[in-house]
Amino acid sequence: MNKPAVLVCRAVFADIIDRLREHFIVETNQPDVVWSRDELIAHLQGKAGVFVTGTQPIDAALLDACPELKAVCSMAVGYNNIDVPACTARGVLVSNAPDVLTETTADFGFALMMATARRISESEHFLRRGEWTKWSVDLFAGSDVHGATLGVLGMGRIGQAVARRGALGFGMKVIYHNRSRLDAAIEAELGARYVGKDELLRECDHLVIVVPYSAQSHHLIGAAELALMKPTATLTNIARGGIVDDAALAEALRTKQIAAAGLDVFEGEPQVHPALLEVPNVVLTPHIASASLPTRRAMANLAVDNLIAALGFGPNKGRPPTALNPQVLA
Ligand code: 8YV
Repeated sequence: MNKPAVLVCRAVFADIIDRLREHFIVETNQPDVVWSRDELIAHLQGKAGVFVTGTQPIDAALLDACPELKAVCSMAVGYNNIDVPACTARGVLVSNAPDVLTETTADFGFALMMATARRISESEHFLRRGEWTKWSVDLFAGSDVHGATLGVLGMGRIGQAVARRGALGFGMKVIYHNRSRLDAAIEAELGARYVGKDELLRECDHLVIVVPYSAQSHHLIGAAELALMKPTATLTNIARGGIVDDAALAEALRTKQIAAAGLDVFEGEPQVHPALLEVPNVVLTPHIASASLPTRRAMANLAVDNLIAALGFGPNKGRPPTALNPQVLA
């Protein structure tokens, strides 16, 4: 039997490619070139499946240009880069990679929030510049995390894992806002109280943003929302660029309308708004919240599990474990 052909869009671990080669003719991109849309379409010709990350836009026009494509399997949990209804309409299976990155991403969100509250990056830069000449009573004095109020915007799996760390590890009071309220049992376990968005912004000491990106969540936090926050508050975004209006945030940081921010994601990344690079009270990281080696491996393996199953092979044949539109295979 002829093996179907698949494309792996970006560099991945060698054993991931070996797993795919058991079932498919595999075209790789181990030099890790960031292909243009036209290049991606060219590489997709004749491919039945594609392994994507969170950075390749898959839309209706691309699908129409790649009629042999049957499965789009992503190693990211967020899938705002994939037009799922357009895939469904064309019978293309889509999968994402939930669960395997939850705890790692929550660890990072918590670390970023702590680094922001305790001014870790800012003080390290000061030390590296050779400016540390004496101890001072208020040298890089920040705000406490333990016992403070944690505001979680978006209480899905990762939001709940952040809340659990705050409530159980640091004695934080947890408030949250979400499209829907959690079950009472989960609220009780997390010690979390559901509040409206404005109340969340007004009351929290440390805001952590974990909502998926969509047209509805675009600029969910802009100038008006930042104006509601305490001048001592911090904001941490580990969700997606575009949920926060970066220009408005840079201005709020410059004028000390809020104390500090921790950002792992940016509008138009890998570009970063120049005004954010100018303010000292922001910790900036290059979209690495899920980047522990074991977790990145687990994410890639889950995408492979899905691709193998979606194209009719392996133990889950026809039942990709984390399909977003399993109905296309029914
Ligand atoms: C990934 C992410 O690093 O899973 C997601 O949604 O944002 C990150 O964990 C990235 O998208 C992988 O392509």
